[in-house]
Amino acid sequence: MKVVAFNGSPRKGGNTTQLIEKVFKELEKEGIDCELVELSGKKLKGCIACYKCFDAQDKKCAVKNDDINFCIEKMVKADGIILASPTYFADVTAELKALIDRAGFVAKANNEMFRRKVGAAVVAVRRAGSIHTFDSINHFFLISQMVVPGSQYWNMGFGLEKGDVAKDDEGISTMKTLGQNIAWVLKKIEEK
Ligand SMILES: Cc1cc2nc3c(=O)[nH]c(=O)nc-3n(C[C@H](O)[C@H](O)[C@H](O)COP(=O)(O)O)c2cc1C
Repeated sequence: MKVVAFNGSPRKGGNTTQLIEKVFKELEKEGIDCELVELSGKKLKGCIACYKCFDAQDKKCAVKNDDINFCIEKMVKADGIILASPTYFADVTAELKALIDRAGFVAKANNEMFRRKVGAAVVAVRRAGSIHTFDSINHFFLISQMVVPGSQYWNMGFGLEKGDVAKDDEGISTMKTLGQNIAWVLKKIEEK
């Protein structure tokens, strides 16, 4: 079983990455393979509304001159998908939004190709707006017919400078439980 996480922060190794690592630690304890994809430095543009993915139905975006198809391919192969973002003006970063729009449309064009995969949001925030960021990501999972496990709080960690989230004990504990719940759901789905 495999979980892939996409970090929408332009800051590699920052708070969002560190939260993802806490989730991964729990997944790895359960023998689940984990891969982190940092969107930082990747070429990612928004959807151009060409609708060609609905004609081609090849599990790819028709715009092939950037890194979106690299990400979509990893999403298709994974059993679980984590979409993670710092809070930017109370929402996801532009990088993650590009992935959401294009991967989401390609999934619709290809018979709901993310259906019943497990999805989880991870959000870093300095002070406010994280619940909206969390909701934005969950909208993607839910309209994609994915299964969304929760934690004892909404999946967010507080921090401004790189590494500050380590001081947010509740945020770290939320990520730990989230990792355990993702593993539990993945195993139940596999049992079927
Ligand atoms: C352009 C920009 C917009 C931001 N908007 C918000 C915001 O709306 N609310 C907030 O609490 N923090 C905001 N922040 C702070 C980041 O969410 C916070 O520093 C986060 O921990 C960064 O995560 P990272 O280290 O993974 O990049 C913003 C930061 C930037 C650079």
